[in-house]
Amino acid sequence: RVKPCHIVELPEFVDPRGSLSVVEAGKDVDFEIRRVYYLYDLPTTAIRGAHGHHHLEQLIIAVHGHFEVAVDDGFRKRRFSLTSPRQGLYIGPVIWRNLINFSSGAVGLVLASNHYDESDYFREYADFLTAAREYA
Ligand code: TYD
Repeated sequence: RVKPCHIVELPEFVDPRGSLSVVEAGKDVDFEIRRVYYLYDLPTTAIRGAHGHHHLEQLIIAVHGHFEVAVDDGFRKRRFSLTSPRQGLYIGPVIWRNLINFSSGAVGLVLASNHYDESDYFREYADFLTAAREYA
């Protein structure tokens, strides 16, 4: 039932005035977008995320600069480099994620399937792992 994390190539419109990329719900992501948040002024050594979700789906985009996302489904760890605003990383439910190795001035944009709800978080890795192993 775990949807694997994957890179989504986003449409890009380039002309002499610059570039534009777009994410449409139901097209580039399967979920309805109910919340948008962004990360900025990030110390290059920061570790963001470090949690999982019960239900939330997200698309993470490095809209400026680059950073890495280390994901863990409870069985396997993978690492994605987000280096382009034309790419998004899909992360579904019950995935532990760490956002790390931020370039100076990096900005991360996150599109989320639901409103902020602390009860949807796994804040403890042990709790996440128990759920991930049951969920599999
Ligand atoms: P946190 O979960 O630590 O951010 P990240 O996972 O990106 O490292 O959230 C930081 C603070 O922001 C925390 O006090 C909760 C708050 N917050 C909201 O109020 N709404 C939101 O949509 C998000 C993502 C965080």
